[in-house]
Amino acid sequence: MKNMLTKYSKHPLAVTALLAIAAMSVLPSASAQPGGRSGKEVVDTVCAKCHAKGERGAPKIGDKHAWLTRAELGLGGLTQHAVSGVRKMPAHGGSPNLTDLEIGRAITYMVNQSGGQWTEPASAKDIAAVRTGQQVVQAQCVKCHEGGANGAPRIGDRDAWIPRLKRGLDQTVRSAISGHGGMPPRGDKADLTDVEVRNAILYMYNPKAAVRLEPWGAKEVPATLTGQQVVQAQCHKCHQDGLHGAPRIGDRDAWVPRLKQGVEHAVRSAIRGHGGMPPRGDRADLTDTEIRNAILYMYNPNATSKGGK
Ligand code: HEC
Ligand code: HEC
Ligand code: HEC
Repeated sequence: MKNMLTKYSKHPLAVTALLAIAAMSVLPSASAQPGGRSGKEVVDTVCAKCHAKGERGAPKIGDKHAWLTRAELGLGGLTQHAVSGVRKMPAHGGSPNLTDLEIGRAITYMVNQSGGQWTEPASAKDIAAVRTGQQVVQAQCVKCHEGGANGAPRIGDRDAWIPRLKRGLDQTVRSAISGHGGMPPRGDKADLTDVEVRNAILYMYNPKAAVRLEPWGAKEVPATLTGQQVVQAQCHKCHQDGLHGAPRIGDRDAWVPRLKQGVEHAVRSAIRGHGGMPPRGDRADLTDTEIRNAILYMYNPNATSKGGK
C-alpha cells in the first residue's frame, strides 16, 4: 500500500498539477447546444447515472484512487475507451449523440472532480480563436504591469515602453517569451501564443490605438531551435517512452490521428496542453514555430530536412 501511494505521487495527475502552474485556463465556456456541451453538463445528464455512485464498478466521481490508476492512459486513451466502450462501460456512455469532444470534456471533468488538474479539451473553433491584446492584458499582464511591480513598465506609460521597444518589436516579444528578471516567461501564462503576447505588448504600449511599431530598427531575434533540438531538450521526457499515453517519437500510427485536423491544430493543442500534456510541454520559453518543428520531428524524425527547420 505504501508502495502504491509513493507510486501515485509520480502519477500524471500530480505531475500535471505541478506543471499546470501557468495554465489558468480561460477557455471560452461551451454553449449548451449538442456538440458544444461542457464536461459538467454531460456528466450531470449522462455519466453521473453510473459514475456518481460507482454503479457496476464504474470509477466513482471524487474517488482519487479509482481515477489516478485510469488517468495513466491519458485523455486520448480514456476517450478512446469511453467512445468505443470497455468491459461494463457502454460505448458513448450509452448516449450515441455525444461527440468525442464532449466525452473528452466529461472525462476531464470527472478526473478534476477526483483530484486532477486537466484542461478541458477545446474545439477547433475555440482553439483557433486568438485573444486580443486587451483580453490578454486584462486576464494576466495587469497583475504586474498595472502597478509597475518590480519595475514592470506600466500599461500606457510610453516613456517606460519606448526604450524597451527600441530593439524592435520582435526582439521585445522574444524577451517576454523567454522572461528575464522579474518578468516570468510569457508573463506566467504558457498557453498564450506568440501572437497573443505580441498583441498584449502593443496594447500595453498604447491601450488607445492599435499602433504598428515595425519600423523600429534592428531585429536580432535569437535563432529558432530545430525540431530535433527541442525534442532532445524537452519533449523526449514523455514522448520517448510514451509516458502517460504520449504519442511516441517516430510512431506514425500514434501521430496520424493527432494530426488529422492539420498541423496548426496540433500546434495549438500542444500550446494549450490537455490531459497529461502540459502547456507547451512545460517549456513556456519555446516559440510557436519551435513547437511546430518539434511536432514535425516527432512525426517523422528521419525527414529532418522537412521537419527540422
Ligand atoms: C451504464 C453505466 C455507465 C454510464 C452511463 C457511463 N459509464 Fe463510464 N464506466 C462504467 C463502468 C461500469 C466502468 C468500469 C469499466 C471497467 O473498468 O470494467 C466505466 C469506466 C469508465 C472509464 C474508464 C475507462 C478505462 O479505460 O478504464 C471512463 C473514462 C468512463 N467510464 C467515462 C464515461 C463517460 C465520459 C460517461 C458519460 C458520457 C460514462 N462513462 C457513462 C459505466 C458507465
Ligand atoms: C510531461 C510529459 C510531456 C512532455 C514534457 C511533453 N508532452 Fe506532449 N503529450 C504528453 C501526453 C501525455 C500527451 C497525450 C495527451 C492526451 O491526449 O491525453 C501528449 C500529446 C502531445 C500532442 C498531441 C496533442 C493532441 O491534441 O493530440 C502533441 C502535439 C504534443 N504532445 C507535443 C509535445 C511537444 C512539442 C513537446 C515538447 C516541447 C511535448 N509534447 C512535451 C506528455 C508530454
Ligand atoms: C509576475 C509579474 C509579471 C507579469 C504577470 C507580467 N510581467 Fe511583464 N514584466 C514584469 C517585470 C518585473 C518586468 C521588468 C523586467 C526587467 O526588465 O527587469 C517586465 C517586463 C516586460 C517586458 C519588457 C521586456 C524587455 O525585454 O524589456 C515585456 C514586453 C513584458 N513584460 C510583457 C508582458 C506581457 C505581455 C505580460 C502578460 C502576458 C506580462 N508581461 C506579464 C513582470 C510581469
